[in-house]
Amino acid sequence: MVEIIHPARALQGEIRLPGDKSISHRYAMLASVAEGKTRILNYSTGADCASTLGAMRALGVEIERNGAEVVIHGVGLEGLKPAAGPLDAGNSGSTIRMLSGILAGQSFSTTISGDESLSRRPMGRIITPLEQMGARIEAREGKFPPLTIHGAKLRPIDYTLPVASAQVKSCILFAGLFCEGVTTVREPVPTRDHSEIALRAFGAEVESIGGVITLEGRPALKGCELYVPGDLSSAAFFLVAAGLLPGSRIGIQAVGLNPTRSALLDFLIAGGSSIKVVNLSQHAGEVIGDLVVEYRPWRGGVLEKSLTAALIDEIPVLSVLGAASRDGLIVRDAAELRVKETDRIATLAENLKRMGIQIEVREDGFEVPGKQKFHAAKLDSFGDHRIAMAFSVAALAADGPCEIENAEAASVSFPEFYQMLRSLSA
Ligand code: S3P
Repeated sequence: MVEIIHPARALQGEIRLPGDKSISHRYAMLASVAEGKTRILNYSTGADCASTLGAMRALGVEIERNGAEVVIHGVGLEGLKPAAGPLDAGNSGSTIRMLSGILAGQSFSTTISGDESLSRRPMGRIITPLEQMGARIEAREGKFPPLTIHGAKLRPIDYTLPVASAQVKSCILFAGLFCEGVTTVREPVPTRDHSEIALRAFGAEVESIGGVITLEGRPALKGCELYVPGDLSSAAFFLVAAGLLPGSRIGIQAVGLNPTRSALLDFLIAGGSSIKVVNLSQHAGEVIGDLVVEYRPWRGGVLEKSLTAALIDEIPVLSVLGAASRDGLIVRDAAELRVKETDRIATLAENLKRMGIQIEVREDGFEVPGKQKFHAAKLDSFGDHRIAMAFSVAALAADGPCEIENAEAASVSFPEFYQMLRSLSA
């Protein structure tokens, strides 16, 4: 599908975003292995989180869905059934990596595969710890999907993450649910802690002190009532759009502001963005608030070390803001971008160049000088949702209409994106 994006003057209005993708996956997986019923409101409408529901259903879990409301009839830690065929994780790295932790603890074997993009993503990072726990895993070339996970009686491990990855951390903690004793994960760089928070909401004992996370195995997980906050990574596209177009003012309601994600706001504000946070509350341990963003020119910034890890999903859209900023954007320590849904350093650079933007690419980052103008161009998502949305935002600031090829990729996390963008530019 080709989406044509016309230049916009300013974005104005109020929006409420679909539920956070990261939190939705975790709630669905944990509700499935909890005892009793869980009702989840504002479940992510993206295809990735539908892949997780599909996989849980295939493992014998009864799930009712009515739009963004999902009811999961948990089967308990021992209740999953062998699937009739391979599970399909679609485009979703979170589904395959986190669910593998649960599959490793089963008394049966499961094959899990995904689309072409997912089939190129590295799985060695979960295979190593899960094999240390006692599972056996077959993978294409030893490291790519499809994975066949031969479940086993797992033993707890004490594992230091070699890459900053919340998916890997979650995979190990979810496997730890099936162990007798304490599983420990050490993270050198903090990553999003939605799994730790969700595990507690379902009744597990999880401690997290100074980057050391411990989980007591075989907890009694209990179904509960949950509300998924709006996705801050989806909000990022509108925060940047408002920062590009003078006169913009957007209110975004009920956004997830977990401190392991909200460094985005601090980074934007440090560079001069006008973002106000109001109506703070908490639900099931997750912080929620409303955002009000108004146009103000951005000075630019440097992303490196732990800040890069904290903002990893927002870097494509930040590259766009960087080009329009006063001083530009420098990104370092971002080798992980090369193994996302696409090689995001390559795909963002290609689209920026098509718009006439200068960028200097490095192996683990890039530098975009500031004060640049976006020219109308034919752009491509290359099948990556965040690239599709980042460059739709860039197109709003271009000197003519832009075509986004493979625009449908946005529906992986945010099917309502183009419609919402249009409603704000009307
Ligand atoms: C996610 C973790 C991050 C992020 C992804 C979602 C999660 O991936 O990029 O979009 O929900 O835990 P990594 O764990 O590979 O860093």
